[in-house]
Amino acid sequence: MNKNILHCENITKIFNAGEAEVKALQRVNLDVYENELLMLVGPSGCGKTTFVSVLSTLLSFEEGYCEVLGKDINKMSDEEKTAFRGKNIGFVFQSFNLLASLSSIDNVALPLTIAGVSRDEARKCAKEMLNAVNLADKADVKPNNLSGGQQQRVAIARALVHQPKLIICDEPTSSLDHQSGQVVMQLLKKITKEKGVSMIVVTHDNRIYKYADTTAYMEDGMILKVEKNL
Ligand SMILES: Nc1ncnc2c1ncn2[C@@H]1O[C@H](COP(=O)(O)OP(=O)(O)O)[C@@H](O)[C@H]1O
Ligand SMILES: [Mg+2]
Repeated sequence: MNKNILHCENITKIFNAGEAEVKALQRVNLDVYENELLMLVGPSGCGKTTFVSVLSTLLSFEEGYCEVLGKDINKMSDEEKTAFRGKNIGFVFQSFNLLASLSSIDNVALPLTIAGVSRDEARKCAKEMLNAVNLADKADVKPNNLSGGQQQRVAIARALVHQPKLIICDEPTSSLDHQSGQVVMQLLKKITKEKGVSMIVVTHDNRIYKYADTTAYMEDGMILKVEKNL
């Protein structure tokens, strides 16, 4: 059995929107292991983004227990959470969130330069990451001159540049055409196996379900079943 990277028990999250209370997560349990690509699937509004926000320490929760890389995230201060994310978690979003004024290589290098790494060293690491996503030849190109699929691959390189153990992708293929979505998923799968990381991919794009090692089905704030895809 591979190493456990994430362990969640009975997570409950309630949003208070004015008078109304939204129970976004209701007693959610989940485990994720090293080298595993887990897909979290379910209809819009079922709580997928809320759940990955909780387990990645971006959002607090009311009840339950969540351990990431052996750390009880509820015991961390806000500063510790920020440092923990900076060291251990990578994020990929539906909208690539690249900075338009920076070239690919500088977008990828940014998390390192923010963390205090020298510009030369950061660009060296960024170059390696662009290589890993097959975009070494686009290092000096700005996002507006790249296709959607290429922009998402730059975003993946940026999410990996600090060598996180856990990578959270929220709807990574939802704004891509079929072919680019397949290329992005093949890449995410390869990274999961080769870099010894864990990947959680939130999606309701059934064209990519086949890339999952494990599929967790979510509905109305609950995980209804977890299936291993052999
Ligand atoms: N900041 C918030 N304040 C109030 N309600 C929220 C907030 N974020 C999400 N919700 C509600 O929580 C539920 C789950 O939302 P979300 O996690 O975004 O679902 P999904 O990602 O599966 O589409 C929805 O009913 C949504 O309206
Ligand atoms: Mg969402």
